[in-house]
Amino acid sequence: MTESNHSPRIDLVSDTATRPTAEMRAAMAIAPVGDEQRNEDPSVNALTERVADLLGQDAALFLPSGTMCNQIAIAVHCRAGDEIIAAANSHIVGTEGAGAAVFAGSSIHSIDCVRGIFSPEDVAAAVREKEPKHPRTKLVSIENTSNRGGGSVWPLETVRGVIAEARSRGLLVHMDGARLMNAVVASGVSARSYADGFDSVWLDLSKGLGCPVGGVLAGSHSFIEEANVWKHRFGGAMRQAGIIAAAGVYALDHHVARLAEDHANAALFARLISALPGIRLDPADVETNLIFFDVAETGLSAFELRDRLLEHGVRIGAEDAMSMRAITHLDIDEACVREAAKALEIVLQA
Ligand SMILES: Cc1ncc(COP(=O)(O)O)c(C=O)c1O
Repeated sequence: MTESNHSPRIDLVSDTATRPTAEMRAAMAIAPVGDEQRNEDPSVNALTERVADLLGQDAALFLPSGTMCNQIAIAVHCRAGDEIIAAANSHIVGTEGAGAAVFAGSSIHSIDCVRGIFSPEDVAAAVREKEPKHPRTKLVSIENTSNRGGGSVWPLETVRGVIAEARSRGLLVHMDGARLMNAVVASGVSARSYADGFDSVWLDLSKGLGCPVGGVLAGSHSFIEEANVWKHRFGGAMRQAGIIAAAGVYALDHHVARLAEDHANAALFARLISALPGIRLDPADVETNLIFFDVAETGLSAFELRDRLLEHGVRIGAEDAMSMRAITHLDIDEACVREAAKALEIVLQA
């Protein structure tokens, strides 16, 4: 993996830790560019057409981040007084600065659910009766894979059931696909099948796909037209952005199938550490590239373990005092995973 004076040797803190490969940088260096704000950047246009087609949507918009994809979608779909149904542990609930409240004046009705996946019945139960004093339920948002659900993959039947329930109640549906391609590779369900029926759906380029920056939001022509207004309003409209969009096209060509390696490395790491004293996790829960594990019985807090692992050149995130999260990615190979598990073993023995 890439080394620098500032980064640990083995960085499992996030799949955003990837550095663009030499080949990706070469593709970026020769990218044709133009003024993206005027739709004149050929590389941005190539990327958005590619993602719209991949997701079976009319059109797509290149944005600087996944958070902006979620917030723009919410701002287009919801108005002040509306409510969004989402899993309690989802990114839009806890990790976007209450953006739904700030930009769309909307509350979130969060569903406590196992592994970040909820059912059509959960949606039915969360919809508010139409009464003047109630928020107006407007949107259902799902996260696939679910980050804090452990990288869990939504079964396609559940997605379809949730969409059908939402539609029957006149609700809109949105998918946070920050790690959608992980779900695609793990399940064998195509991105187009997963995205079918959503009013908005996006994927992140800067996570498992290994790009330095960017997300792509897709939907109908009228949705994207309105989303583009918000893109300008948020200051997310760029200029010669083809230089970064080219990384996205490169990643879609070269970095999708290889996500299976990240999943295999995550499964290996889970197996290795599940045998260590005091570490609690079920390797069967590791469906993609995220590994959450409980350290309460090790005699050390997650924060202490995190700091001691860093002394061995390994970075793993502490979620809270008792649990940790490791993520495999493009810059992590099998040897890194074995070394990280060994470092954890040494720290625990000490
Ligand atoms: C599920 C999910 N949604 C949205 C985001 C936000 O993406 P970004 O960091 O590109 O803003 C993340 C980032 O970790 C995420 O995990």
